[in-house]
Amino acid sequence: MAKTLSKALGIDIGGSGVKGAPVNIKKGILLAPRYRLPTPKPATPKAIAGTVAALVAHFEWKGPVGCTVPARVRGGVVETAANIDKSWIGTEVARLFSQATGLPVAVLNDADAAGIAEMRFGAGKGHRGVALLLTFGTGIGSALFRDSRLLPDTEFGHIQLNGRLAEHFASDAVRGAEGLSWEAWARGRVQPYLEHVEFLLDPDLLIIGGGVSRPDRWASFGPLLHTRARLLPAALGNDAGIVGAAYAARALVPRRRKRTKKSGPIPEEKASAAAQKPSKARRKPKAVPERGSSSRKK
Ligand code: BGC
Repeated sequence: MAKTLSKALGIDIGGSGVKGAPVNIKKGILLAPRYRLPTPKPATPKAIAGTVAALVAHFEWKGPVGCTVPARVRGGVVETAANIDKSWIGTEVARLFSQATGLPVAVLNDADAAGIAEMRFGAGKGHRGVALLLTFGTGIGSALFRDSRLLPDTEFGHIQLNGRLAEHFASDAVRGAEGLSWEAWARGRVQPYLEHVEFLLDPDLLIIGGGVSRPDRWASFGPLLHTRARLLPAALGNDAGIVGAAYAARALVPRRRKRTKKSGPIPEEKASAAAQKPSKARRKPKAVPERGSSSRKK
């Protein structure tokens, strides 16, 4: 009999908090109030693995776990560390978290997880065409979809804009650090960034995620933005990462599925399943250049 996973524990690792909840992944809803623990300092892989284990213990969870990290993850290995401790680079994170919890753990990029949740259950549900989700927080994360199929591991927060990395110019953290009003940030930073991204990718749908998608915050800046694409705030708000992480845990359960021409593959699953398999020809992990620096030697 074909086996499908109906619930998984989703964990979203952020710069200030590690949040989790059991999720009904058929409906995209939390099965219990989310539980949050502060991100340990320094946020090394080992310390975070301890926090992940503490969340698992809190929910007395016994099944598959999906976990986000704010970095590119390929084959269960972290490849970049723009806003996290550099010791993450090269860490076999899926294995580390599995050892710490004693459970199967799937790991994926935080923005990809939020995007999966939004396309499956939220603002992008049923969308056909090109959709781009951008999360504005400490950095800028991106998740790109075509007909709801994820092109994983994009890093559009790292394009150059006005001589700076986009996330050093237009992230929510920059708004706070530079004391910008919502209006100054929206018009002076987010608008030029969105224009540039629209020129590069020509999406039909743009979804803005992260903490800034909270209705009160969105009301302060969303209406000031003008895009050719339809522009929407993330519908699942801050739960998107948890829901998308839990959904990615489907990749851990081998399934037999009757495939009809009509249904085809489930788009995000293919990508997240691939992300858990160590690649034979894994590229040497590289640090993402920071502060507008170039990786090219001068
Ligand atoms: C990282 C991305 C991440 C984003 C949001 C960026 O600095 O490079 O992988 O998705 O921050 O956390």
